[in-house]
Amino acid sequence: MTAANHPQIVVVADAAALAQTAARRLIERVKHGNRAAVCLTGGSSPLGLYRLLAKDPLRSEVPWTRVHWFMGDDRFVPESDKLSNMGAARRAFLDSVPATQLNIHPIPTAANDPAEAARRYEAELKQFYGADRLDPGRPLFDLVLMGLGPDGHTASLFPHSAELEEKQSWVVGVAKAGMEPFVPRVTLTFPALASTREMVFLVDSADKRQILGRILAGEDLPAHRAYAQGDLIWLIIRAAAPER
Ligand code: 6PG
Repeated sequence: MTAANHPQIVVVADAAALAQTAARRLIERVKHGNRAAVCLTGGSSPLGLYRLLAKDPLRSEVPWTRVHWFMGDDRFVPESDKLSNMGAARRAFLDSVPATQLNIHPIPTAANDPAEAARRYEAELKQFYGADRLDPGRPLFDLVLMGLGPDGHTASLFPHSAELEEKQSWVVGVAKAGMEPFVPRVTLTFPALASTREMVFLVDSADKRQILGRILAGEDLPAHRAYAQGDLIWLIIRAAAPER
């Protein structure tokens, strides 16, 4: 977080309210313009939101043919593997909605190694964006979803890892994950994730309360380092909200 980018904390009653609120925000972000870009997240926190998008009434509010779907990080496994973040997003909603298939942009985990997958995904992002350098006045994404790990990681940006310092690359390979599942990862970097009109952290379980308290108190953990060109929102269920 930077001084100019104070997070807005939004506390909701429970996981169902969190999914509803996130879905509403997503629809607001994608409903205008010729095309919209959403960067999804892995883990369990977004699944309620994904399932809501798959069924009416929200399903019919998403302009499916105009929205592009990216993934902020993935495990270096085939999409058919239960550990795959894009596989999970497809099963939860992308497979059952009228999304344009060419608008779904998975991290290419069939590449030879995570570094090659990262290079290929960065090239794809640059082609989509239409430039090799991110312009703060023209964000890459309309919405970036983020999760919070129990160690304070977000995307596949783990505490004390070199990837936290990456300023040039948009995407990097992570040979060793900082926590389970211990499979190599591919992750967008902070500057690429920050290139968004809105970033929303989803915190949907009470067991995140302690780590969230540390992050909001300013401890130098990966999720605290995340920033956004646009709005930075922490969407939190009440049971996870630290005492004030
Ligand atoms: C991943 C995720 C990761 C996740 C957090 C929270 O690939 O593992 O992108 O950053 O968001 O670990 O996971 P939960 O939502 O399952 O708590």
